[in-house]
Amino acid sequence: MPTTSAFAKLLDSSRVLVTVGAGGVGKTTTAAAIATAAARSGRRVLCLTIDPAKRLAQALGLDMIGSEEAVVDKAHFQKSGVELQGSLTVMMLDTKTTFDALVRKYSSTREKADKLLSNKLYKYVSTSLAGTQEYMAVEKLVAVKDDPRFDLVVLDTPPTSNALDFLDAPERLVSALDSVTMKWFLTAFQTSGKLSLNLLAKSASVVLKGIGKITGGGFLEAMAEFITELNDLFGGFKERARIVEKTLRSDDVAFVLVTSPAPMSIREVLYFAERLDESGMRAGSIIVNRMRVAPEGGSPVTVAEAKAAIAEGKLALDEDAAARVAQAHADAFKLAALDASHLRALEGRAGNTPIVRIRERPSDVNDVSMLLTLGELMLAGGE
Ligand SMILES: Nc1ncnc2c1ncn2[C@@H]1O[C@H](COP(=O)(O)OP(=O)(O)OP(=O)(O)O)[C@@H](O)[C@H]1O
Ligand SMILES: [Mg+2]
Repeated sequence: MPTTSAFAKLLDSSRVLVTVGAGGVGKTTTAAAIATAAARSGRRVLCLTIDPAKRLAQALGLDMIGSEEAVVDKAHFQKSGVELQGSLTVMMLDTKTTFDALVRKYSSTREKADKLLSNKLYKYVSTSLAGTQEYMAVEKLVAVKDDPRFDLVVLDTPPTSNALDFLDAPERLVSALDSVTMKWFLTAFQTSGKLSLNLLAKSASVVLKGIGKITGGGFLEAMAEFITELNDLFGGFKERARIVEKTLRSDDVAFVLVTSPAPMSIREVLYFAERLDESGMRAGSIIVNRMRVAPEGGSPVTVAEAKAAIAEGKLALDEDAAARVAQAHADAFKLAALDASHLRALEGRAGNTPIVRIRERPSDVNDVSMLLTLGELMLAGGE
């Protein structure tokens, strides 16, 4: 009987998996692959995704992935010869909708909620305040975690410049909301890049005048009103942030750390794993995605071999391409060796966290069979 991989055990023992990692390493792809493979094997899966590529939606047979839940049609998988034993529901995280729901929940009266929601500044702040997107991702997780319709929730996370932004999000959001002062407001503007950083150094009154000029009359009144209303929500948000943090520490929640084989990305996940450990959260697995492997044959082809292959028609190229073929081949060996050495360094430092290796595919991952292949490979413990 085949042995069960550490990753398969992780999947079995988790109700929630959160994919985190640096920008572009494959978080969304990994989340979709895990969700698909789990649904195939009988789990009722909800995949909460962020900003998925259009082609990923198409791969799942959806016109688009929207902020409404969409159940993936089993017939779509059958077309690719795959029987979904369980079910797969996909939904895109929508920061503003989640924030709106919170405002409604925590406003003392309906009128107050309406007033805040219709404030001119609200839309801006609810979507661009530092940490809001990360926070709302976890917030959504808290909302669906115990939904009886699902037995696995896979949560994708935003492309934070630093994966830690994600962990710190509840705290950051609370402290941002806590200092409802000019300073806080400046932070919001600062992240938009609309006002330059050095404005921070100037006095608040100068800044205020500046903002007034930029945004036109009524701004200060709108801001004052907004701040008063937001203040009304504070107690609610703070308590909420604590619940959110506690949820992330539950036994059945695990993080899947996704990295490329690049040293910088690896350093980031290692640091993240350390921080998870300190915070009493679980680093379930590290996925090293897009590993480059050496071409078959054991050694790079020589120019003469490339010429011969072209002459025999094995390579549909002009003869003068032989040198480039040999060079590309040699480069591929070097890159594979480089990735392998970075992986070894990671293995030496990852402690007990299982590492799953996934190879670089020749194209983007954008159809059912590729998603399933990746998902099955992860379940098998990598390749
Ligand atoms: N193993 C792989 N081989 C080839 N292409 C891959 C692989 N994994 C992911 N990709 C491709 O890399 C691109 C980025 O992947 P993805 O969107 O999953 O990354 P991400 O970490 O979610 O990015 P972001 O931080 O922007 O959200 C996609 O086009 C995806 O198809
Ligand atoms: Mg993504």
